[in-house]
Amino acid sequence: MKILKSISEVRRVVNNNKNKQIGFVPTMGFLHEGHLSLIKKAREENELVFVSIFVNPTQFGENEDLDSYPRDLERDSNLCLNAGVDYIFLPNANEMYGENFSTFVQVDKLREGLCGKSRPVHFNGVCTVVTKLFNIVKPNKAYFGEKDAQQLAIIKRLVKDLNIDVEIIGCPIVREEDGLAKSSRNSYLSERERIEARVLSMGLKKCKALLESGERDVQALKKVIEEEINKAESSKIDYIEIVDSESLQEVETVKNKILVAIAVFIGKTRLIDNFTFEGEK
Ligand code: PAJ
Repeated sequence: MKILKSISEVRRVVNNNKNKQIGFVPTMGFLHEGHLSLIKKAREENELVFVSIFVNPTQFGENEDLDSYPRDLERDSNLCLNAGVDYIFLPNANEMYGENFSTFVQVDKLREGLCGKSRPVHFNGVCTVVTKLFNIVKPNKAYFGEKDAQQLAIIKRLVKDLNIDVEIIGCPIVREEDGLAKSSRNSYLSERERIEARVLSMGLKKCKALLESGERDVQALKKVIEEEINKAESSKIDYIEIVDSESLQEVETVKNKILVAIAVFIGKTRLIDNFTFEGEK
């Protein structure tokens, strides 16, 4: 495994492997089993596997956690080595955003709801960096987690709209034993908050059970999640939304495939979780 820090080094490797199928997993590092599940899939399906580790400044709002975002390169590179990664692309901010950088990629509509409401610059930053990474690594397949369902929907739209020749593969959410979705940000939680954070997946579980028992009223479905989350003293709801899984537009009744998505502060840490449900056609 090699660590490449410059765009020109990546281009050289990519040009020397023109006939090989490249799988790509973009990350911000501090890797956990969620990331590793993407890497595993990429390893199974491709000849060369690239992982990028870049805490992308343009996707963080002014009062967000860019500076405190957890980093551990030594651990990350060992995990990548053991997972059979061929190349880590590890640029710095200057390599990615040189002087006078002024081009941004914006996917309208899909970026506006859910996390876009409280994080207005976030998805433009994600789309810009992912477009750049695709242009640099030129992967055949790129792997994204369903944990970030809105991000996945936006990236699928982006590659279609801009004719980027890459197949986007969505991968299921990997969870802790108690149900909490794995996230680099879980490391911010105190012991007490970590226990309380269970309410996110518990709320979703109860909502899913209600859906399976036939409930179709969106307000009733949201209420069961809200009640569960409010059991945690340190929780503050950012949103609980039930939307069409493709358009991400709010629905009034459960038809087609829906996405139930939530964002909740546990103390100061903002956590997200979701599931999809196939409603009646
Ligand atoms: P990051 O949060 O590091 O996540 C990298 C990838 O891992 C994303 O596709 C995310 O959905 C996936 N992932 C995270 N937790 C997961 C879990 N518990 N189960 C399954 N997959 C999980 O998402 C980003 O970085 C950035 O926005 C990025 C796309 C790299 C652009 O900067």
